[in-house]
Amino acid sequence: MDKGTLITTGKAKSLYETNDSDYLILHYRDDTSAFDGKKVESLEGKGSINNRFNAFIMEFLEKEGIPTHFERLLSNTDSLVKKLEMVPVECVIRNVTAGSICKRLGLEEGKDLDPSTFEFFYKDDELGDPMINDYHIRSFGWATQDQIDKMQELTFAVNRSLQKLFSDSGMILVDYKLEFGSYKGDLLLGDEFTPDGCRVWDSETREKLDKDRFRQNLGDVVESYEIIAKKLGVI
Ligand code: ADP
Ligand code: TMP
Ligand code: ASP
Repeated sequence: MDKGTLITTGKAKSLYETNDSDYLILHYRDDTSAFDGKKVESLEGKGSINNRFNAFIMEFLEKEGIPTHFERLLSNTDSLVKKLEMVPVECVIRNVTAGSICKRLGLEEGKDLDPSTFEFFYKDDELGDPMINDYHIRSFGWATQDQIDKMQELTFAVNRSLQKLFSDSGMILVDYKLEFGSYKGDLLLGDEFTPDGCRVWDSETREKLDKDRFRQNLGDVVESYEIIAKKLGVI
């Protein structure tokens, strides 16, 4: 599959056309962003580890019955995916309190949530990705009720599969963000599942192994992503 014209450059990935209009190439860069693009650094090797990590998770999820955009790895930093019409909404599941929910609701970090909780955010960096509800999604035409139901159902199905995958490998899946899009009438999981878009702690030590290491200046960001990848058998 030939890499064609650059379509768009996001904060961490670049999208390229291919010679088939149904497919795109996602190029994972080393750029690392937090706080909606306010903190940005290039971390050597991050693009490569995330591309391979995402391929492993997407292939695992496909086997678990989750429809995804992922086709195949093209190189260490490039993947071929189906071109989706993205829903501009982020679906977040939290199994343990951390991050913005602690600030918003005045909670301590590290409390188990039973049941796990679900939140929608509107994908808009300039607005700081505000939290929204399903009424907003329908009123502003970002998705239909059927798509909303499907996004929630699939995000919880992903949680059931990944909570077990991580806990069997000695880690806690604290929370994560997913994005969906439509392809020929079907809703598919798009974008990525990598340590950039989730929180993962070591089960024994509760050490943070995800992008909070970058957000909180804890150091060893790529090394920690590699620790997660090794525990899961990605590398
Ligand atoms: P951000 O948009 O947060 O800066 P990235 O740098 O990761 O993030 O950019 C990737 C962009 O590509 C995002 O806007 C994402 O919604 C979009 N995207 C991901 N997968 C697909 C796909 N299969 N088809 C079309 N767009 C996609
Ligand atoms: P939050 O605690 O900042 O709301 O984030 C919850 C989880 O979702 C966390 O794992 C990070 C991820 N996330 C992103 O990757 N990008 C985003 O824009 C948002 C809002 C969350
Ligand atoms: N994903 C957002 C960003 O890249 C928010 C964050 O991770 O803090 O800026």
